[in-house]
Parts: sequence; C-alpha cells; structure tokens
Amino acid sequence: EKGGFDTFMAKEIHEQPQAVADTLRGRIDESGQIVLDEVRMSDQDFRDIDKVFIVACGTSYHAGLVTKYAIEHWTRIPCEVELASEFRYRDPVLDRSTLVVAISQSGETMDTLMAVRHAKDQKARVLSISNTVGSTIPRESDAVLYTRAGIEVAVASTKAFLTQLAACYLVGLHLAQVRGIKYADEVSAVLDELVAAPGKIAKVIEGLDPVRQMARECAGQDRVLFIGRHVGYPVALEGALKLKELAYLHAEGFAAGELKHGPISLIEAGTPVVAIVPSPRGRSLLHDKIISNIQEVKARGAKVIAVCEEGDKIAAVHADFVIETPASPTLLAPLLTAVPLQEFAAELATALGRDIDQPRNLAKSVTVE
Ligand code: M6R
Repeated sequence: EKGGFDTFMAKEIHEQPQAVADTLRGRIDESGQIVLDEVRMSDQDFRDIDKVFIVACGTSYHAGLVTKYAIEHWTRIPCEVELASEFRYRDPVLDRSTLVVAISQSGETMDTLMAVRHAKDQKARVLSISNTVGSTIPRESDAVLYTRAGIEVAVASTKAFLTQLAACYLVGLHLAQVRGIKYADEVSAVLDELVAAPGKIAKVIEGLDPVRQMARECAGQDRVLFIGRHVGYPVALEGALKLKELAYLHAEGFAAGELKHGPISLIEAGTPVVAIVPSPRGRSLLHDKIISNIQEVKARGAKVIAVCEEGDKIAAVHADFVIETPASPTLLAPLLTAVPLQEFAAELATALGRDIDQPRNLAKSVTVE
C-alpha cells in the first residue's frame, strides 16, 4: 500500500505532481474562468467583499500565509491570515462584506471549525478549502473548493499542502475575475504557469538525491534555522514545522529581515541555515536582500543551504550548498520550494531513527480545541 516506498510520506511526496494536476483539472473553463465546487454566494456577493480573513492551523496556516500575498496582489482586497485558534478570542471585525477563507485538509479541525462558526455568527461569508468531501467545515461554508490530494496518511502534510496552495491560487484568481480584473494579462499568465506547475514539481522531485545527502550531514546538529522573504517566509515556517514535527529538533523559520532584530544570536559555527532565495529575475531587490542575509549568517559561521532558482549564480557563490528549483513566477514559487524542505525533514528524521509517518504526540486530525 506504500507503493514501493518505505513510508507513506515518501509516497505522498511523490504523488504531489499528480495531486496538484488533479486539483487544477476542470477548474478553469474554456473562457479561462475559474469554477468553484459549491457556491451559495452570488457573483455580486463576491464583488461586495472588502476584506478577506484566512483562518487555518499548522501547515494549512502556512498555505494561508502564502495566499495573503497572492490575494492582495491580484485583487487589491486587504487580506489577513490568522491562526484559527486565536481568531475568535480577539473579537475580529467581521460583517457581510468580509470573506473568511477556512483552509483545512481534514475539514474537521476543531479550532478552524470554531473560527468558521464565529465568522458565520458575525454574518461573514465563509469559503472553505478542504481535502475531505462532505466534512464539517465545507458543510458549514457558503462556498467550497475541494483539493484533490486523495487520502493523506502520513501525519506530516505534504501533498495536502501543495494542493491547498493550488486551490488558494484559484480562489485568489476567482476573486480577481469576479471583481473585474485589473491585471488581466497577469492573471492569464499566472493561470498558464499554474497549469505548468505539476511538471516542474516532478522535476524538483527527480532532483532530491543531493537534498537527502545534505539532510544526513545535518543530523548531528541540535538546531536548524530557515529564512525567507515575501512568500519564501511562509515556506521557511513550513520547512521548520516539518523538521520539528518529524525530527523532534529545534527548528525555526524567520522572515530574513528579522534576523538582526534578535534571532541571529542563535547562530554558531556550523549551524545549518536554509535560505529560500527568490528568483533573481524581476523582483531582484528581494533577491539582493536575501543574499545579504546569507552573508550576515555566514559571517557568524552558519552553514548555508540555499533553495534557489536554477542557474542562480549569485546564490551559488554565497551559499555552501545549493538546491535548485525551476524558474517560476514569485507568487507561485512555494509550489516548488516547499518540496525539498519536506524531503530534507523526512531524511534528517530518518537518520535520527524517528517514526516518519506517525511522529510522537501527534494526530492526523485534531478534533479538540
Ligand atoms: O486538517 P487540517 O488542515 O485542518 O490540519 C491542520 C494541522 O493540524 C496540520 O496541517 C498539521 O500542522 C500537519 N500535521 C503539519 O504537517
């Protein structure tokens, strides 16, 4: 049942190109419009939205963080992301023109469900993204877009995460379309790139051998840090969560610009720092900034592993080790850059003798608050 792999997680990592392709299939009609599964909201309801809140937990929350960048850029609607467990306790400002996007693989996470119920009590509209047809969160939502990852057995989320990203991009593009697209060219170019993503994810997976070797070399360390900027920041958080969850190791993700405000003092000789480097094309300012962050940590003795775009010679010069991913528009890059971090965590945890599919103290679905 593991399809020839040692663990369900390895199998699920390899299923990602297919899972993302399945999630996109049939969702873009002949006229290039995005189609949601269940919508108890009119186009006018979507046009009336003036604020988006994304609520989720764990890895799903990281998908939400990436989505904030996409939604605000494509739609110009203000978007906040909040941990579902915090949302209702701080009395957020919600009304009929607020769209709450709830992301939950299982559709049963109690914290997320409670956030959905709170949003509905306050008359907000709720759109959910879930992998489980007929689960509670989609049932209680006004609109639903299902991810089609298939059953994810490993506790550590991999293919569910990538399909959540794909679905979230579709939601962002749907909002942009329904509201009249300011960036029509950009939106259709992004759709083309989304459709091309599964092939690129497959390419990343084919190239994972050096990542495994790197992970084994880091197995003696007592901490690993992850840094990123823009959408690379949530990817850094996700890389750290995977490592904590699987290897029981101190791992933390930081917005790279925050290093000098405290965390840089964690760096000792040999501390591995995984840097998510954006494309050197286009937004090169972002690229320059992370290269200087790499220089800062290297000056303190860090061993830098850069996840960068293929052919990025600058990153190759500054990092100790380079993991290349195919070129992609900045906002879609997490579909590619998250994958080596999944493998890195799994391999490092394997070297430490951990139970990859069933880490201690964790359940696949958290149905208590
Ligand atoms: O089913 P959900 O998406 O609501 O689950 C949320 C989190 O419990 C989940 O993503 C968790 O963080 C994963 N085990 C991380 O790999």
